[in-house]
Amino acid sequence: MTSAAESHGFGIAGTGVIAALHAAAVATLPGARLAAVTDVVPGAAAAFAAARGCAAEPSLDALLARADVDVVCVCVPSGLHADVGVRAARAGKHLVVEKPIDVSLVAADRLIEAARAAGVTLTVISQHRFDPGLVELKRLLGEGALGRLLLGEASTKWYRPQAYYDSAGWRGTWALDGGSLMNQGVHYVDLLRWCMGPVTEVTAVCATQAHRIEAEDTALAILRFASGAVGTILSSTAAFPGFPQRLEVTGTDGTVIVEDGQIVCRAFGEGDAGRGPAPGTGAAADPAAVDVAAHAAQIADLLAAIDEGRAPAVSGEAGRDALEIVCAVYESARTGRTVRLGP
Ligand SMILES: NC(=O)c1ccc[n+]([C@@H]2O[C@H](COP(=O)([O-])OP(=O)(O)OC[C@H]3O[C@@H](n4cnc5c(N)ncnc54)[C@H](O)[C@@H]3O)[C@@H](O)[C@H]2O)c1
Repeated sequence: MTSAAESHGFGIAGTGVIAALHAAAVATLPGARLAAVTDVVPGAAAAFAAARGCAAEPSLDALLARADVDVVCVCVPSGLHADVGVRAARAGKHLVVEKPIDVSLVAADRLIEAARAAGVTLTVISQHRFDPGLVELKRLLGEGALGRLLLGEASTKWYRPQAYYDSAGWRGTWALDGGSLMNQGVHYVDLLRWCMGPVTEVTAVCATQAHRIEAEDTALAILRFASGAVGTILSSTAAFPGFPQRLEVTGTDGTVIVEDGQIVCRAFGEGDAGRGPAPGTGAAADPAAVDVAAHAAQIADLLAAIDEGRAPAVSGEAGRDALEIVCAVYESARTGRTVRLGP
């Protein structure tokens, strides 16, 4: 539980699409207050700040110099997460870094090390870990209800029009974004890794078929896990009109299927086969349709971690684990070879 004693001032770097959700999430949390925002486009920060009654700072340095900011939400393009995050860590600020942690393992390691050296707490957003279906699935796995794990599948069949990629210059570029898997599929890659454990082998194919972008709009991969289980990843932004994100976990004693954060099928042995509530659509077709509650839950966990001096539920290392799988998919697709991970 969050201790109500401490109060935390937030700053947001990057006032685009996801920043609005961070501001809304902070507004729901007792003891948290949005103090200031900044953006490389000055008008953007000013408009964002005016709508929310906080300050707009002209630069990241100015934001980081504020004594009333102790947590910084890093909401800039993905390939700039480490650059901005390292500066914030060195200024002594705790960090909420949007997913993915960055787009390369070198950058991810730089950020994790900077946070460690500065003694600040770092969480990488994976808000779907806080969805009810995932909380329940993790509880079931913790109890061993599925038996020995055999098969795990993560599927993101979403749709983004070309206009989405054209809406900002960084989208779909290798340097700052990556493709469908790095941006959209990474959520369920993290959930798959969280539920199934470490991955040891990745064999993948990627394609860019329906968009004018550098990176892939469709990625498919076959996995082996350290446990001996096997799995698949599918991610696309070319699947009109967009379908629920799906995680399927099968063990010797049963299967659980999650769609958009809700358990839609749980079947354990004979006599326990049921379907849960129907899934919604949301982010399958609309990048801005992200629910505030899950972000608020993850940020609340970070504040509790700071106050209690413990690690957050989703650490920098967890963000790196998901990124490592995404990078292995890209490497395998590029080289045509199986990529081996782990010690
Ligand atoms: N968790 C989720 O569900 C979710 C959803 C959408 C986006 N995201 C992530 O959020 C991040 C941002 O995505 P977005 O869709 O909001 O992008 P966006 O392009 O809408 O916003 C990014 C903002 O950052 C600003 N910016 C760029 N460089 C900067 C810098 N050095 N300092 C300060 N500001 C800078 C840009 O001007 C822009 O306003 C990405 O990493 C993305 O993967 C996460």
